[in-house]
Parts: sequence; structure tokens; C-alpha cells
Amino acid sequence: MFKEEIINDIIKIVHTKPEYAQALEELQYIVFPNLAADEILKKEQYVKHLEIFPEGQLVALDNNKVIGGSTTMRYHFDLENPVHHTFSETSAGGWLTNHDPNGEWLYGIDVSVHPDYRGKGIAKAFYRIRNQIARELNLKGQLGIGMLNGYINYKEKMTIDEYYKKVKEHEIFDPTVSVQEKIGFELKGLMKDYLNDPTCGNAGAIIVLKVNM
Ligand SMILES: CC(C)(COP(=O)(O)OP(=O)(O)OC[C@H]1O[C@@H](n2cnc3c(N)ncnc32)[C@H](O)[C@@H]1OP(=O)(O)O)[C@@H](O)C(=O)NCCC(=O)NCCS
Repeated sequence: MFKEEIINDIIKIVHTKPEYAQALEELQYIVFPNLAADEILKKEQYVKHLEIFPEGQLVALDNNKVIGGSTTMRYHFDLENPVHHTFSETSAGGWLTNHDPNGEWLYGIDVSVHPDYRGKGIAKAFYRIRNQIARELNLKGQLGIGMLNGYINYKEKMTIDEYYKKVKEHEIFDPTVSVQEKIGFELKGLMKDYLNDPTCGNAGAIIVLKVNM
């Protein structure tokens, strides 16, 4: 089972422990400054996640300082007939109580990297470790809704549908979804009204990374 990974000789990724919960909540406010307050993950919720699905919770540390976090749960999702859902519905308001022990996908609730530590391969490492976890649990792979965070710069010029199409056709590089695609995720569709954040027009892309890819 996954224990720890060191990146660039400095950053350590390990499973989350309760003592990191407060710092993980603080990181949420830095990473998602425009997200609705009730969609920010809170300290108590991070602690609860460890009761529900400890294998799926990761933290990135720089000398014990929390600089990244990754939250997942197991979930059933039919890719051929995608059902609309919101972040709050899937994550049970952030508590993860919708975790399905028989769910065939490792569903990404959150990946957060502190702005000072971006571009150093931390998200890539999170997704690589998640893939290892998915493989160990015999799952199909990773699935999530990637926030279309670059839409803020285009919202006067086009609809979110047009923006998604341009990201998918590589005419626009989105700072979140295009990075996820670069890491290996496939874009499978647009999920509108997923959460409440004007940065991404409240929408995300359905993203999938199969274990056997
Ligand atoms: C999206 C996010 C998690 C990426 O984290 P990160 O640790 O900076 O990503 P990595 O360093 O692992 O980068 C992975 C690849 O994307 C590239 N990349 C990362 N950010 C990029 C950007 N803004 N523009 C162009 N390329 C970028 C990296 O160079 C790397 O490419 P490589 O494999 O060719 O070297 C981070 O920007 C973040 O926390 N954003 C805000 C929160 C968020 O949107 N989370 C996801 C919610 S769905």
C-alpha cells in the first residue's frame, strides 16, 4: 500500500492525519478564494474523511507545513449515461458520507496546491498516487469534475459551452482542466451548475483517467 513519496527532494506526500485538518481548511481559502463558503472543506470534515475512507486522503508537506491536499472517495458513475450532480450532492456537503465502498471509481473531490508551490509536479504526484490507490483497490480508475477555472477570462466573450469546446479542441489552455488533460485525463463532457464559483462559471469538465491507460 502507498506510504509516502518525496518530490524534488523536499516535498513529502503522505496519507492525511487529523493534525493536518486545520491547515488543510486554511489552504482551501487560499486555493479557492471565490468558492462559496459552504463548498469549502472544513477541519471537521477532513477529520471525518479519515474515518470514512482513510486510504483516499493525501497531504503534501514542506517540512511539516501543509502545502497541498487531495480528497477522494469511491463512487458509482455510469460514463455512458452521465447523471447530473453537484459538488455538494456528491460530497454530501463535504462530509464524504456518500462514499460507496463498492463504487468502481476513485472520485476526486479536491486537489489543492498552494500557489507558491505550483508547477513543481505536486498535482501530478497526487494523481499518480491516486492511480496507485485505484489499482490497489481494483477500481476502474479516477473520475472527477475538473473546474474550468480559466473561464473567468473569457466569460464576456463566450458561453461556458463554447469555452469547454475550445478547451477540448485545444484552442484554449485552461489552468486546471488542461493541466489535468496534460497529466493524462480524458475530457468526457461538461457538467454545468456543479458548484458555486464564478471563476469557472459554476461548471466543470467530466474527467477520467483509467487505471489501465
Ligand atoms: C490545478 C493544480 C492542482 C495544478 O497543480 P500543480 O502542482 O501546479 O501541477 P503540476 O506541477 O503537477 O503540473 C502538471 C503539468 O501541468 C503543467 N502546468 C501546471 N500548471 C500550468 C499552467 N498554469 N499553465 C501551463 N502548464 C501548467 C506543468 O508544467 C506540468 O506539465 P509537465 O508534466 O509537462 O511538466 C493547481 O494549479 C491548483 O491547485 N489550482 C487551484 C485549485 C484547483 O483548481 N484544483 C482542481 C479543482 S478540480
